[in-house]
Amino acid sequence: MTNKANKILITGGAGYIGSSVVERLVKTKCKVIIVDNLKRGNRKLINKKTKFVKADINNTRAIRQIILKNNIDTIVHLAGLASVAESQKFKKKYYFNNVKGTLSILKACKNLGVKNFIYSSSCSVYGNVKGKVSEKRKPNPKSFYAFTKYKSENLIKKFSKKYQFNYIILRYFNVGGASSSVKIGEIGNKNDRLIKNLAIQYFKAKPKINIHGTNYKTKDGTCVRDYIHVSDIADIHIKCIDYLNKHFRSDTFNCGYEKGYSVLEISKIFKKMKKNTIINFKNRRPGDVGQVYANSTKFKKIFKWKPKFNDIKKIINSAIKWEKKLNHL
Ligand SMILES: NC(=O)c1ccc[n+]([C@@H]2O[C@H](COP(=O)([O-])OP(=O)(O)OC[C@H]3O[C@@H](n4cnc5c(N)ncnc54)[C@H](O)[C@@H]3O)[C@@H](O)[C@H]2O)c1
Repeated sequence: MTNKANKILITGGAGYIGSSVVERLVKTKCKVIIVDNLKRGNRKLINKKTKFVKADINNTRAIRQIILKNNIDTIVHLAGLASVAESQKFKKKYYFNNVKGTLSILKACKNLGVKNFIYSSSCSVYGNVKGKVSEKRKPNPKSFYAFTKYKSENLIKKFSKKYQFNYIILRYFNVGGASSSVKIGEIGNKNDRLIKNLAIQYFKAKPKINIHGTNYKTKDGTCVRDYIHVSDIADIHIKCIDYLNKHFRSDTFNCGYEKGYSVLEISKIFKKMKKNTIINFKNRRPGDVGQVYANSTKFKKIFKWKPKFNDIKKIINSAIKWEKKLNHL
């Protein structure tokens, strides 16, 4: 079990995935401190059983003070900008926020007794890969977003050797859905996130889905991704903190269900739920790769992990349920 005595700093804890991780963490009774600048997060998602500090991760002094004051032993670092398309347009902003931001956190925790560091990396670091991709595959980032995630991974590895903490890098595949408590889910109009977008469309009189790119080298020409439920992602973090507490060993893990769905396949599943859905075929978006889906054997083996929500319909339905509650529909 996660040690009740753990004092955990979670960056990006007012965001979609961060708030789901927090929801799980507070159940373990450990002390949780959230840092978020609220530029993309939302106050509604901040768990009342935590201490919240509104700060930017690039404010190294403020972060260092928080670590010192709260005796932090574990950092779960999720703060970041997370859109592939946006990153292609705003490279400097992404570099500053994601790479410099990670460096700032690492500098802030120097010699303060932080033992564990968990990082939210992304499957995008692999680039385009045919077949299931394992952690052994050499990363080949294709978008600027992916580059910032890979660069941050390397900074964490470098600092971990120098300052003697252990890390777990989690390469999430595409995260979707909402927590079963229906208290936590995605907020905002992130129209480059398929599952969130489907949930928004579900409540429209004339639902529309835009598919970007039809000539990728995939089963039907549209992009293939591995969708993982946010509640499974949250559980994975708890397992990783336990592991670091027990084994003091650093590692990198894929987090996916090992199943690739094309955007067209998912659109067809949705069209069965909302028969009047119009599917539009559009040009490719810059930075998108054709396909990437996980080989998660390593995580399954070490953690004896069995996913609880590995059903695409469950993921879509939980996102719809959340959307309904969010907008009082
Ligand atoms: N959603 C996915 O499918 C997915 C997949 C792979 C990796 N990730 C990674 O997971 C993390 C969380 O993603 P999410 O989907 O929850 O996004 P999100 O935008 O909902 O959450 C990110 C949070 O970080 C905060 N933040 C951003 N920059 C900050 C800064 N400089 N200082 C303080 N707070 C800052 C935002 O305000 C927001 O609350 C990101 O690092 C993302 O790259 C997400």
